[in-house]
Amino acid sequence: MKNIIVTGGAGFIGSNVVHYVVNNHPEVHVTVLDKLTYAGNRKNLSGLPADRVELVVGDITDAELVDQLVKEADAVVHYAAESHNDNSLKDPFPFVQTNIIGTYTLIEACRKYGVRYHHVSTDEVYGDLPLREDLPGKGEGPGEKFTSETAYNPSSPYAATKAGSDLLVKAWMRSFGLSATISNCSNNYGPYQHIEKFIPRQITNILSGMRPKLYGDGKNVRDWIHVDDHSSAVWTILTKGRIGETYLIGSDGEENNQHVLELILELMDQPKDAYDHVKDRVGHDLRYAIDSRKLREELGWIPQFTDFREGLADTIKWYTENKDWWAAEKEAVEAKYAKNNQ
Ligand SMILES: NC(=O)c1ccc[n+]([C@@H]2O[C@H](COP(=O)([O-])OP(=O)(O)OC[C@H]3O[C@@H](n4cnc5c(N)ncnc54)[C@H](O)[C@@H]3O)[C@@H](O)[C@H]2O)c1
Repeated sequence: MKNIIVTGGAGFIGSNVVHYVVNNHPEVHVTVLDKLTYAGNRKNLSGLPADRVELVVGDITDAELVDQLVKEADAVVHYAAESHNDNSLKDPFPFVQTNIIGTYTLIEACRKYGVRYHHVSTDEVYGDLPLREDLPGKGEGPGEKFTSETAYNPSSPYAATKAGSDLLVKAWMRSFGLSATISNCSNNYGPYQHIEKFIPRQITNILSGMRPKLYGDGKNVRDWIHVDDHSSAVWTILTKGRIGETYLIGSDGEENNQHVLELILELMDQPKDAYDHVKDRVGHDLRYAIDSRKLREELGWIPQFTDFREGLADTIKWYTENKDWWAAEKEAVEAKYAKNNQ
């Protein structure tokens, strides 16, 4: 696999995977296809060698452009998406357009040229789970975590469009023999994440002298994974995964939002209660939890960043040292939240 296309490679997870590939796989050339929406930033790719990484600014729904690029590629790894739940509740259309039509455009081109395709998706397609304390096996019993057999039950328009895109890929594999794999990953954290998202929002609030904001009672649980572990997992699936299979990616990082926020406050030398409760997100999923045994046992993947406290401390350091990367957008992001009392 010498020439790969990474869609959405100027966004949070996509740019991290481009860095990962450049650092770990010197034989691979990456073409990034990214529209540079508000969530994409060419600075995320700065410093990377020009002979290894090319940025093509364009839309994944542009069939002609996609055709031209896919024709020359060995594989497409598809990250580009509208990715923020809150935005999808306000205006779902871009989510339908990019996440569904965009995926359709890419898999059509991959089918035409017989190009290997990997589809990056989310655990949110499965809806949510009850809290651990309310389950007979306290979260470890059968059916108490998501597996690749869990039925789809998305809650938000974002999750529904990701679920729709996964189903297109499954149908293209079955009906047209598309050579593909799918991964559904839990919540990522790490450098280059847009400040509208939970962890960077809290960190940059503190760095800007504003109080952090916690949705509802903060009991919602997310299964956090460091973005570099997501990258190594996707690379493992791309190179070793069985065609036609879905793999769930997670690193046993269940934490509730209140605890994450309190940890950020502690690591940033703030009082534990120095935050405001704000209106909950409608339809807010209660708990996500990934059973990643299939990926670990079948493909031998092992996450490296399993100390959440340490990963969070590194992430705080990154936002502290890279104020230039986020400061210009902070006011507008918070104004958007304030309109919704969040
Ligand atoms: N963030 C998470 O915790 C998480 C967890 C699991 C899966 N995922 C999935 O990983 C992928 C990347 O997520 P992220 O958090 O990095 O998102 P992001 O919003 O940070 O980045 C998305 C990127 O896609 C680009 N893009 C958007 N629409 C486009 C279009 N029409 N054509 C070309 N490029 C376009 C944007 O410019 C941006 O660079 C998404 O598919 C998301 O569903 C995310």
